[in-house]
Amino acid sequence: MMHTSKRYVVTGLRGQVVQCLLENASRRSDVEIIPLGRPELDLAAPRTIAATVESARPDLIVSAAAFTWVDLAEADPETAFAVNSEGPAELARVATALQIPIVHLSTDYVFDGGKPIPYVESDPVAPLGVYGRSKLMGEQNVAAATEHHAILRTAWVYSPFGRNFLRTMLKIAETKEGVRVVDDQIGNPTSAIDIANAVIAVGQNLLTSNEPALRGIFHTAGTGSASWADFADEMFRISAANGGPSAKVIRIPASEYPTPAQRPANSQLNCSKLHKCHGIVMPDWQVSVEYVVKRALHADDLENEKFGR
Ligand SMILES: NC(=O)c1ccc[n+]([C@@H]2O[C@H](COP(=O)([O-])OP(=O)(O)OC[C@H]3O[C@@H](n4cnc5c(N)ncnc54)[C@H](OP(=O)(O)O)[C@@H]3O)[C@@H](O)[C@H]2O)c1
Repeated sequence: MMHTSKRYVVTGLRGQVVQCLLENASRRSDVEIIPLGRPELDLAAPRTIAATVESARPDLIVSAAAFTWVDLAEADPETAFAVNSEGPAELARVATALQIPIVHLSTDYVFDGGKPIPYVESDPVAPLGVYGRSKLMGEQNVAAATEHHAILRTAWVYSPFGRNFLRTMLKIAETKEGVRVVDDQIGNPTSAIDIANAVIAVGQNLLTSNEPALRGIFHTAGTGSASWADFADEMFRISAANGGPSAKVIRIPASEYPTPAQRPANSQLNCSKLHKCHGIVMPDWQVSVEYVVKRALHADDLENEKFGR
């Protein structure tokens, strides 16, 4: 039989989703992940994009890289918009030229958080900060450049890799007895492992069918909601049960933890469309947190070694 492995070219090298895509693909033969990142591909330098992507001979492009520093973006809108809006626009133009689909990752921060129940894809967008605005423009640019796209809006991403809330909390718990955590922002903690599964499945659907229902925006976040404090409590409970560090969660309002960027009070995403159109159900957030905490407890040294941190 012919070798039918599909080449998914992904932006970013060490990003959480990239790492999880690589891990996922290492266990299967039908998908190959080719990560492209700086300096060869720099989203802030659009002229580096087309030739680099084309020479990787993609069957599909995954636009996973972003300027994800939500607070830093307030002080550096130029970089945020270059990386999150212009870079993806160029990627989508390349996808059009190559006549291949693109899966682009976006964020719950396109919403202002004023809705009391989970957001659906057709709800009005109104980002509160530069990061959200730059990601929204990225979505719009991708959709304008090619019809053959799926935009997956995800949220509160954590994984055994890289920089995220879960790893930060576990690190703090090694030295502190208590930690103040915001309790009046509600969202969907989402494991990058689950995002990687969804990206691959959506990609396979786009590669095998031209059905219009497979295209467009899809909310792609962990099932069930939590505040940051609930999320921390749950990870500490699991960590303690597995001999890892834990701390007492002191619940505070966001007003007591001022940050340069304002964040939505409610950014829960309703993911029914993803289920209906792509047949994907995202796992319960607690189930995924348990898996990642256990891995983070045992993998820390390995990851540090791998990334020279
Ligand atoms: N993290 C979250 O909580 C969250 C929430 C909602 C949505 N999202 C979205 O989900 C996607 C994946 O996020 P993530 O958590 O996996 O990201 P991440 O771990 O923060 O990693 C960011 C990635 O972007 C790459 N990158 C940044 N600037 C770049 C540039 N100029 N050129 C090329 N690559 C660049 C980084 O490159 P290096 O590999 O060189 O470091 C890294 O691979 C992003 O689109 C993000 O907006 C994330």
